[in-house]
Amino acid sequence: WPRTSTRTDGALTVGGVDVRDLARDHGTPLYVLDEDDVRSRMRDYATAFAGSDVHYAGKAFLCKEIVRWLQDEGLGLDVASGGELAVALSVGFPPERITMHGNNKSVAELSRALAAGVGHIVVDSYDEIARLGYLAEQQGKRPKVMVRVTTGVEAHTHEFIATAHDDQKFGLSLSTGAAAEAVRRILALPQLELVGLHSHIGSQIVDTAGFEVAARRLAALLVQIKDEHDVVLPELDLGGGYGIAYVEGDEALDIKELADGLREIVTKVCVDAGLPVPRLTVEPGRTIVGTGGITLYEVGTVKDVEGLRTYVSIDGGMSDNVRTALYGADYTAALVSRESQAEPMLSRLVGKHCESGDILVRDCHLPADLAPGDLIAVASTGAYCRSLASNYNYLPKPAVVAVSGGVSRVIVQGETEDDLLRGQL
Ligand code: LLP
Repeated sequence: WPRTSTRTDGALTVGGVDVRDLARDHGTPLYVLDEDDVRSRMRDYATAFAGSDVHYAGKAFLCKEIVRWLQDEGLGLDVASGGELAVALSVGFPPERITMHGNNKSVAELSRALAAGVGHIVVDSYDEIARLGYLAEQQGKRPKVMVRVTTGVEAHTHEFIATAHDDQKFGLSLSTGAAAEAVRRILALPQLELVGLHSHIGSQIVDTAGFEVAARRLAALLVQIKDEHDVVLPELDLGGGYGIAYVEGDEALDIKELADGLREIVTKVCVDAGLPVPRLTVEPGRTIVGTGGITLYEVGTVKDVEGLRTYVSIDGGMSDNVRTALYGADYTAALVSRESQAEPMLSRLVGKHCESGDILVRDCHLPADLAPGDLIAVASTGAYCRSLASNYNYLPKPAVVAVSGGVSRVIVQGETEDDLLRGQL
């Protein structure tokens, strides 16, 4: 639950705002973001990684207001598309603090990134190196580039979000020599300034070991590049992927421990080889916005399937949070609009979409007196829920409100049916 959440008379309060007031003022479903929680996590990163760069991974959740918070707190930004870049530029975010990612950036996206003067472009294929070289020459630019390296680390997470084994679409393999070949190709293009290497091993990982192995392998590649080309690359971007707690008993990663461990490893490899210690960047997404967000729903029906469980249907579902359906994710749900002394009943929290896989929480215990009109909150939905939302069954995407100091304000408007019909001929 968000850092500022408390219970008053049985009702949940976040950022000093009672969730019943949120539901009344903004409707449900509603994404609620605890501004103080998110900003404090931005600051925690800035402190733990002092002397390094922290680039928030916008894919977790991006909107203009988040970009303003990043600017206030002095963080950078990782964008993965022209659209994400547009959000950042629309509020005047300094382009030099932006890193551009993607395994298939279009000519238009690369051109825009070059024209804007983004700080770094992380290249992901030989095709892209050639494409970027051509565009840079045309625009008379010399972008700073990094090579995304597939380090071969086995990440203990869902297959769809593990990215460091060779048999997936991202990066250039360390083991096959593709990463070294990419370095050669970039160094042969004077219009590209190779400044470093990048690795992202996967997401929702709570064990620091994998990150450390990846950091050691990247640092070793820096040494190899020095030996082969007599070039010293000044930067390493170690990606993101740090896990948060979704249900009771889940571990979360200790950021301070992570920062110290990564620094120590990279320093040792480089100092032993007589190389200067490179500047590090990390790209956390989920750990910054995940826990500060909750989704508020209203219960519509409570159906007991005898002998099995109770199905509690709420007014949203897989269109506002697809993670359970997509990754088998676990979430915590609770009755938040009142106190209840009733027995806990084995429940499944489901949405209103036309398929049985439309499950938000597979197994949870909700009070037996739960009834239509009650409010349910699902915790830790700040990351990868709104950003992965769809309009399945023509459900409008819910609004996002930020809460702080007893005040709620809309930072992303909810869609209307008119929004959904616009553009249809
Ligand atoms: N950097 C790069 C290059 C990435 O690809 C990602 C995530 C991040 C940083 C941030 O990772 P984080 O710290 O948020 O784990 N939709 C999935 C997660 C996909 C992550 C994709 N890349 C989910 O809902 O679990």
